[in-house]
Amino acid sequence: MTEEIKNSNWKLRKGQIVAARQLTRTEKWFEIKLEGSDLDHEPGQFVQVELYGIGEAPVSVCSSPTKRGSFELTVRAAGRLTTHMHTLDKGDWVGIRGPFGRGFPVKLMTGNDLMFVAGGLGIAPLRSLINYVIDNRREFGKVHILLGSKTPADMLFGSEIEVWQKRVDVDFSCTVDRRDPDWKGNVGLITSLIPGVHLNPEKTFGVVVGPPIMYKFVIAELLKKNLPERQIILSLERHMKCGMGKCGHCQIDHPKNYYCCKDGPVFTYEEVKDSKKL
Ligand SMILES: Cc1cc2nc3c(=O)[nH]c(=O)nc-3n(C[C@H](O)[C@H](O)[C@H](O)COP(=O)(O)OP(=O)(O)OC[C@H]3O[C@@H](n4cnc5c(N)ncnc54)[C@H](O)[C@@H]3O)c2cc1C
Ligand code: FES
Repeated sequence: MTEEIKNSNWKLRKGQIVAARQLTRTEKWFEIKLEGSDLDHEPGQFVQVELYGIGEAPVSVCSSPTKRGSFELTVRAAGRLTTHMHTLDKGDWVGIRGPFGRGFPVKLMTGNDLMFVAGGLGIAPLRSLINYVIDNRREFGKVHILLGSKTPADMLFGSEIEVWQKRVDVDFSCTVDRRDPDWKGNVGLITSLIPGVHLNPEKTFGVVVGPPIMYKFVIAELLKKNLPERQIILSLERHMKCGMGKCGHCQIDHPKNYYCCKDGPVFTYEEVKDSKKL
């Protein structure tokens, strides 16, 4: 299903943090420069980040491949490794393997309309694709971006979102589950934004990334809009160890025994709709 992973991607490479910023209480952004060469990733791929003496964790690349010289990650402090990662800053070094996995089907999407639906940290992998599309804007049709977060303070990449919002060639809307006193925008789940979007189902790809609970409801809304199952694109998360199809840890409960790290993390809904859990 996927091309063989390049041999060089298996090797641990040294990456230096050249910039870091706390985005929210739980998410920190890092810009990393690899020793020797560029990462050369595709939007939707991930790297294995290694912290010496602690271990490895998969993290999506959140910058577009159109940005050369360095790449970016956004890390939520979820457990041992990711919490330790938050103590790192400019000048510190990490180990990087990858890029791994099948990214978003950019070639297939070229020439078509796109509807991005991101919930919470799901904006991290989607930001890579959104910025790729914006940097190659003429190659794509209409672009809709729908964002959802728990509260206004949890919304990631605020200044970049403002830029997307102001573009005349992007139809942007966002919502929060719970407002704060300064919030003047939509309040409600991300699914509430979908009925208001006018799309041509024949030539639209819906790209959905967010917490697992979100998928079922967003997919139901996209199917109501008559989007074909093969044009609904999802990025899935599973516990991973090797990141390259060798250990079996990330197997998806599916008759075809997909490995999330190698066959995904990006799948069409048509491919994974028979899984017990998305
Ligand atoms: C393809 C892929 C891309 C990812 N991209 C990002 C990203 O861009 N930013 C980011 O912050 N995180 C991302 N994650 C999740 C990240 O890998 C986990 O949060 C991390 O592995 C946790 O490691 P830890 O040592 O900090 O936590 P641990 O101490 O190992 O565990 C802390 C808690 O998190 C749970 N957990 C661990 N791994 C996962 C997982 N994969 N899914 C759900 N729960 C998990 C554990 O069960 C435990 O409850 C991604 C995961 C995958 C598979
Ligand atoms: S993480 Fe080892 S097979 Fe996917």
